[in-house]
Amino acid sequence: MMNSRKLLAANWKMHLNLAGAQSLTQELIERLAAPRVPVVLCTPFPYLHPLHQLIQGHPGFHLGAQNLHQEKQGAFTGETSGEMLASVGAEYVIVGHSERRTYYQESSDLLSNKLIRARQAGLKPIFCIGESLQERERGVEKEVITRQLLFGCYNLLAENFAHTTIAYEPVWAIGTGRTATAEQAQEMHAFIREKITERYGDNLAQETTILYGGSVKASNANELFAQPDVDGGLIGGASLDAAEFADIYQALLNA
Ligand code: PGA
Repeated sequence: MMNSRKLLAANWKMHLNLAGAQSLTQELIERLAAPRVPVVLCTPFPYLHPLHQLIQGHPGFHLGAQNLHQEKQGAFTGETSGEMLASVGAEYVIVGHSERRTYYQESSDLLSNKLIRARQAGLKPIFCIGESLQERERGVEKEVITRQLLFGCYNLLAENFAHTTIAYEPVWAIGTGRTATAEQAQEMHAFIREKITERYGDNLAQETTILYGGSVKASNANELFAQPDVDGGLIGGASLDAAEFADIYQALLNA
């Protein structure tokens, strides 16, 4: 039976124009046919609505946003609420990507509010956690992850956590070409599942999707996805190339 935790997400970050986003999506629809694990394209806000129209009638494809505002609505010039995202076809939303934590000083407190708001809007959060290179070198990666889970997502009620995906993305592996080894990924993923068990119980922990992210490519996907607690990937750079992303999808399917 197919592991029901499997999921593959693309994080396009701030890349592509509308025509490029549409042709990439079209090519993925052709290459992946009807994906047998959920494929979530996390696109820039302006492309959600047009891509939503493009994926109509193609089950298995889903859209996600890369961020949301923590308030429901109001005088927040330039911001976008979860309700708005849901209304243009987003089903998922990335929360707490390390680029947002670093460049926009997003704290665990703020991320906790964003996660709650995402659920209120009916969105499924993809909550990113991960240690920096310095933290890894100091050997405190597990403490870092534990704090990020505790202060970031443990305010979610179990019924909301049940709709949340965790993405473990060691910051030193993002966009650097330096991937965690399969063993490092498995060790951290198993640790995360243990922590989830402590907070939410074994049933929910066993059902939680834990993605790995950070320089995943077709050439290392097989090994990463073969790990029992690695349920899929959050793919940045390699998701902008349809052929490469399709190969990563195939690796997950085969795992
Ligand atoms: P990368 O990005 O695959 O380009 O390392 C992953 C991410 O930031 O989600």
